[in-house]
Amino acid sequence: MTDAPRHLLSLTALKDAEFHHLFERAAALADGADPGLPLKGLTLANLFFEPSTRTRASFELAARRIGATVLNLDLSRSSAVKGESLADTVRTLHAMRTELFVIRHADDEVLAGLARSLDGTRLAIANAGEGRTEHPTQGLIDALTIHRRFGCCAGVDVAIIGDIAHSRVARSAVHALTRLGARVRIAGPAPLLPATDALPGTVRCSSFDEALDGAQVVMMLRVQRERIAEGAPDERAYFADWGLTDARLAGAHPDAIVMHPGPFNREVEIASTVADGPRQVIWEQVANGIPVRMAVLEWLADGL
Ligand code: CP
Repeated sequence: MTDAPRHLLSLTALKDAEFHHLFERAAALADGADPGLPLKGLTLANLFFEPSTRTRASFELAARRIGATVLNLDLSRSSAVKGESLADTVRTLHAMRTELFVIRHADDEVLAGLARSLDGTRLAIANAGEGRTEHPTQGLIDALTIHRRFGCCAGVDVAIIGDIAHSRVARSAVHALTRLGARVRIAGPAPLLPATDALPGTVRCSSFDEALDGAQVVMMLRVQRERIAEGAPDERAYFADWGLTDARLAGAHPDAIVMHPGPFNREVEIASTVADGPRQVIWEQVANGIPVRMAVLEWLADGL
């Protein structure tokens, strides 16, 4: 039992002890520790206001594996389309004894406001990707994938390439990786890079090749067209300038791994030969979603 409500809204807001607890518990579960049934008797609602394959499915699978009942609300057929507020949708489900809420939303900062408006209610919220702010479980997944490949994140050279300005994944991954001691460089087309001080602890490279030079991890990000009102790059031109091909990958460390949080766009930010090639760990990232989300849900349930 804790006094303050416990949510996972961002990695940035986690205290060191909380961050390391979640990371180490996820690593232990990935290594085969018995998760038990810490969610037995609890109900989890997946509320996804934006599309998802990985996050939604793995939260559901993780929750079921540790004992929860799972409700997947079809928001296009819910009372949200009749104007019901997010807080009132959550209150409605909570009245039916739902305690855990996994929420993806297109808007920035909506979850902190939701948590404040529900202060004192026995429920927990997990951010499943919010606007351009954070995608905390994806950040943990990316760090865990590197940790499992290299034995640690400290001192590992990571290049994050692509549309970083619109990417909540980049924010959470950079936060997790720098907190664990990785050296992170970023690169992308100028209009898709964030303000210089937006990602503390990163080094901004002036070209793709400079970012790749000797990198042990190459993390590719897709162009977030849904967040670009106008002027999104032409796909063919983007691939020519910023697509990861085998030829480009040759500039990275000889043992470099290739990551992508998904969904990925073949022949736009990554060539099929790379996405299907021997260096990719994309499916390991997907698999690591289960232990990360089990660890997060166990921690949230413990705070109820
Ligand atoms: N990486 C990620 O969030 O994927 P989905 O959009 O499929 O959940």
